[in-house]
Amino acid sequence: MRLILLGPPGAGKGTQAQRLVQKYGLVQLSTGEMLRAAVAAQTPVGLQAKDIMASGALVPDEIVIGIISDRLDQPDMKNGFILDGFPRTVPQAAALDELLKRKHIRLDAVIELRVNESALLDRVETRVAEMRARGEEVRIDDTPEVLSKRLASYRSLTEPLIHYYSERRKLATVDGMMTIEQVTREINRILAAVGAVEPKAAPARKARGAARKTARPTGKKVAKTAKKAAKPAPRAGKPASRAAKKAVSAARGRGTGKAKKAANKAAPRAAKKVTKKRAKR
Ligand code: AP5
Ligand code: MG
Repeated sequence: MRLILLGPPGAGKGTQAQRLVQKYGLVQLSTGEMLRAAVAAQTPVGLQAKDIMASGALVPDEIVIGIISDRLDQPDMKNGFILDGFPRTVPQAAALDELLKRKHIRLDAVIELRVNESALLDRVETRVAEMRARGEEVRIDDTPEVLSKRLASYRSLTEPLIHYYSERRKLATVDGMMTIEQVTREINRILAAVGAVEPKAAPARKARGAARKTARPTGKKVAKTAKKAAKPAPRAGKPASRAAKKAVSAARGRGTGKAKKAANKAAPRAAKKVTKKRAKR
């Protein structure tokens, strides 16, 4: 699975990335974390980035593109990755497209976590309190003043990526005002709908036996999941619905087909697999 998490500071990118790492064994690529490590180690990149990060501005594109390019060459990338905080500008997104193309890697989805700006300061303050309680060093950019600059950078330089990925039919928007658990559920639903992960079976079905569960055509489930993912998020409204549909149709390799229709077309493939399995038995 190859995924991008997009969202303003404090939206929950790191929180959700961690959950996906635990669930799917993916690698989290957080440019913020990498840069903070470079600052702590006083590497040449760290020395360049330190003051920029402390001010709430973005580190130059060529530096972060270089970091990501090197990281994508590592062997642990083969099981998939979550990009958390990269790309953050249109040139970074274009560079990523180029890198992935060269490596024949396809992006599954870009998930935007949409959060009311008024909630972000609270979240960052909570994080500060939590880090203090754990005896960890607090982030130098987690102050109200720097947060407002980070938000300004997000609005002017990162928000255009919503349009960028929406045009490329990769974008799905999740209402990031929901609880952490609900956001995770919604992300998983989208990932299933775009075919990045196996759709999860309903609990009642589980009880009826695993063998029977696997023998059912998955296409129907995908259709259901796709339909659910296309449901508008409570606060995000229509754009979420459209985005989810687009994500589904993109994942099925179609231009404008509806999620359900696309998912139904997957059914014969699933049925074929089942028949083969049965023949073996
Ligand atoms: P980075 O480290 O990426 O910071 P950020 O984007 O500002 O985002 P945060 O890490 O603050 O927030 P998050 O979305 O991860 O939220 P979290 O899950 O922690 O970047 C830092 C700096 O590095 C940049 O300013 C820039 O200078 C530089 N940089 C990095 N990447 C770059 C790039 N590509 N190009 C150029 N420069 C770059 O959650 C926050 C808090 O909210 C937590 O306490 C959490 O528990 C809580 N929370 C999470 N979800 C919920 C929820 N649903 N409900 C309630 N609370 C929640
Ligand atoms: Mg983060």
